[in-house]
Amino acid sequence: MTSEPTPPIPERPLLRGDRVWLRPLEERDLPAYVAGMNDAEVGGMAGYKWPLSVAQATAWLQRTQEQSRSGELGFFFAVCEVGADQFIGTVWLKGVNLVDGNAELAIFMDRDHIGSGYGTDAQRALLAFAFKNLGLQRVWLTAYAANERAIRSYERLGFQHEGRLRQSWRGPRGLEDTVLMAILRDEWLQAGESAKGSPTAD
Ligand SMILES: CC(C)(COP(=O)(O)OP(=O)(O)OC[C@H]1O[C@@H](n2cnc3c(N)ncnc32)[C@H](O)[C@@H]1OP(=O)(O)O)[C@@H](O)C(=O)NCCC(=O)NCCS
Repeated sequence: MTSEPTPPIPERPLLRGDRVWLRPLEERDLPAYVAGMNDAEVGGMAGYKWPLSVAQATAWLQRTQEQSRSGELGFFFAVCEVGADQFIGTVWLKGVNLVDGNAELAIFMDRDHIGSGYGTDAQRALLAFAFKNLGLQRVWLTAYAANERAIRSYERLGFQHEGRLRQSWRGPRGLEDTVLMAILRDEWLQAGESAKGSPTAD
């Protein structure tokens, strides 16, 4: 792994929520990223099924950065607390489709930052980026039906339930369901979320 210089922490980050800000995922984040991926309560709940090494993650990040220079393939962010630069989670917009105006959201926070609102706040910042900066019309996701905390977080942000994919993953209790949820631009505006977590907010 190459050692990169750490940029100064911005006083007014471009992409921020109330308590977190987003910056590109970098190689220096990968040990923490891999630890999250390999944790059943973190990466496991986000759909990762087998262990990942730092070397594999490094190769993936380099490939992804190369392919997604235009941003069309996706935006992968590290989540940091405001005023700090340490990775506490990651949030992504995947499969950005600028023609049809949609993308998929994925997220995991590290174990120490679950259940205290950081993840919900990070999604707020990402949704503002998706709807304001990219001009998307729809952001969608899937979640394990058993992942009540994640679903509650999505509902709070204004995501609507669109469907249920029955017996679509093999979980601890055997085959389990997945839910499909999405938020449209108008719903995001109506939920009042556009006033929060804004790229232009102070
Ligand atoms: C899912 C995730 C991003 C949610 O972000 P978060 O900041 O931890 O969520 P919050 O703390 O805002 O909690 C969201 C809601 O769930 C509730 N909640 C917290 N823990 C819960 C639990 N164990 N079971 C059910 N609900 C729970 C909270 O009370 C809150 O509801 P409220 O707004 O009505 O009070 C984060 O928990 C995470 O990264 N989890 C691990 C990986 C993962 O599951 N990723 C999503 C894959 S689809």
